[in-house]
Amino acid sequence: MTTKPIIEIDPYEKTWMRISLGLLVVFIIMVGVAGYALGFQLPASETRVNPQTVATDPNSPWSNPGLRELAPGKYEVYILAQIWLFNPREITVPVGSTVTFYVTSKDVQHGFKIQDTNINMQIIPGYVSTLTHVFDKPGEYPYICTEYCGSGHAAMFGKIIVEP
Ligand code: CUA
Repeated sequence: MTTKPIIEIDPYEKTWMRISLGLLVVFIIMVGVAGYALGFQLPASETRVNPQTVATDPNSPWSNPGLRELAPGKYEVYILAQIWLFNPREITVPVGSTVTFYVTSKDVQHGFKIQDTNINMQIIPGYVSTLTHVFDKPGEYPYICTEYCGSGHAAMFGKIIVEP
């Protein structure tokens, strides 16, 4: 006596189901490798600010944007994006520094990408975008606005100088 399976699945469909499951496993492994081995980070924007007062309120770190040294080799930098510049335009740190970026906008949506690093964030007014990078090699690392923000968009850039 033979029992009939409850659901009949076409062999081709079975193959594709196996391929789909295999892809899921591959993607999960890739996310793990990117996050834990390659140090990929998601830009976090858990802090909210008022874009109307963020540049003027004396209690706001963006009323005086720039670099702060927390400990030897450990820095944080507050960057204000606005049409059409980044304040500050230039940041200098010694090689080997760990730098945490806090970027916000006081007007429209901008982007913030640092060449030759994993840092590439969307800058939305009212939110603070944060990422950390270790600058292991001396040199100049330009940063640019990556989201079209008006006629001066192409002029929105600056650079990080990593000194030997
Ligand atoms: Cu700011 Cu494009």
